[in-house]
Amino acid sequence: MSHASWIERRQRLLAQMQAQGGGVAIIPTAREFIRNNDNCFPFRHDSYFYYLSGFTEPEALLVLVASAGQQRSILFCREKNPEREIWDGYRYGPAAAQQAYGFDAAYAIAELDAQMPELLADAPTLFYCSGADSELDGRLQAWLHSVRGKARSGVTVPDTTVNILALLDEMRLFKDDGEIALMQKAASISGVAHARAMRAARHCKFEYELEAELLHEFRRQGAQSPAYPAIVAGGANACVLHYGANHAQIKDGELVLIDAGCEFDSYASDITRTFPVNGQFSQPQKTLYELVLAAQNAALECARPGARYMDGHNAAVRVLTEGMLETGLLDKNKVGTLEEAIAASAYRQFYMHGTGHWIGLDVHDVGRYRETEKVGAEKPHRQLQPGMAITVEPGIYVRPAEGVPPEFWNIGIRIEDDIVITPDGHLNLSRDTPKTVAEIEAEMRGTINK
Ligand code: GLY
Ligand code: MN
Ligand code: MN
Repeated sequence: MSHASWIERRQRLLAQMQAQGGGVAIIPTAREFIRNNDNCFPFRHDSYFYYLSGFTEPEALLVLVASAGQQRSILFCREKNPEREIWDGYRYGPAAAQQAYGFDAAYAIAELDAQMPELLADAPTLFYCSGADSELDGRLQAWLHSVRGKARSGVTVPDTTVNILALLDEMRLFKDDGEIALMQKAASISGVAHARAMRAARHCKFEYELEAELLHEFRRQGAQSPAYPAIVAGGANACVLHYGANHAQIKDGELVLIDAGCEFDSYASDITRTFPVNGQFSQPQKTLYELVLAAQNAALECARPGARYMDGHNAAVRVLTEGMLETGLLDKNKVGTLEEAIAASAYRQFYMHGTGHWIGLDVHDVGRYRETEKVGAEKPHRQLQPGMAITVEPGIYVRPAEGVPPEFWNIGIRIEDDIVITPDGHLNLSRDTPKTVAEIEAEMRGTINK
């Protein structure tokens, strides 16, 4: 992504701050967490901070100042440190970071306590997310206390605090072309990884072997990490929605559900495919697979501008419930007609999660799902608009139970794609990942070089 994108986002945020009377925004990156001694857990920058800065080093913080006379972006970051750079690698240091990332000023992070009271003095509004980082909250209190100490000289502290995340969430919800290109790259790599796992399945005995195929492909193609812990769930494990152990044997005759996506240049992908370990769907597996696929297609038809966020879920639920009645998963004598079964949420025995979520810098990305105003008793779900990115991921999970046809027991299926809403409908970023029964069985007839 070009630095112009980050500068443009800062300008847009500053304009919104100005429109609210001006003030100072404080946006920190993520903390480093020590695992033990001098070993940290892998560092991942904060997505809000990155969205506005493009800067990936730890120990950094962004300050935006919007006042009538001037709008400024200021970075605080680590100083150059030749000794640490021998051990840990290059650090920009303030001067180079200011130049490279287009900030108006940059200072050493060690200067934060000295600089912030001056920056906060006379700011009408503080744009900040309190309650997310108690250490920073505490330091902010000290900075404000220091400003109050100068009250007799006429200096004032901000008298309003605005939750800056509400502004940033709405900005992040609409992806620009650069973001969509990165999300496409992430989804394309993940799609190849899923196909690789399909081809490898017949030679693998354990779920973790399939996970290794995915991780290998992610890294081989330059993705920095998985966007979330991979789910590789054989047989009954697929009915555990957040299964993550990935240590069980996979068995001939069973399905395996893989929910895995890489992060590429900070953007997530999130793809699920379900396939038979031996390369061929049995009849009961195929019946339920085709049902979930039909539900996904119904939901995908609602992925267009003007449709409401929940329309896709409702469409999937209708198709799934109809299929559950046809296959005998739901007993007509107990749950009644299709409309009655939907109204009573009878499908929840076999489909107990939503049909998607926003996706972007984070796999479960930020953004409001509902309008801000109530209509009747509740706030309606918001309408989809071009640039929004969602997953569409219906599933069916059949745990053994009395009255449930045994041929379906322990089958768990989910199909998940990553979608960007376009002016005409949508773009399916994961469109090249084998998905129909025919595509999956054909992919699995191929082999990878072992
Ligand atoms: N992989 C997490 C999800 O599908 O929401
Ligand atoms: Mn997923
Ligand atoms: Mn998902």
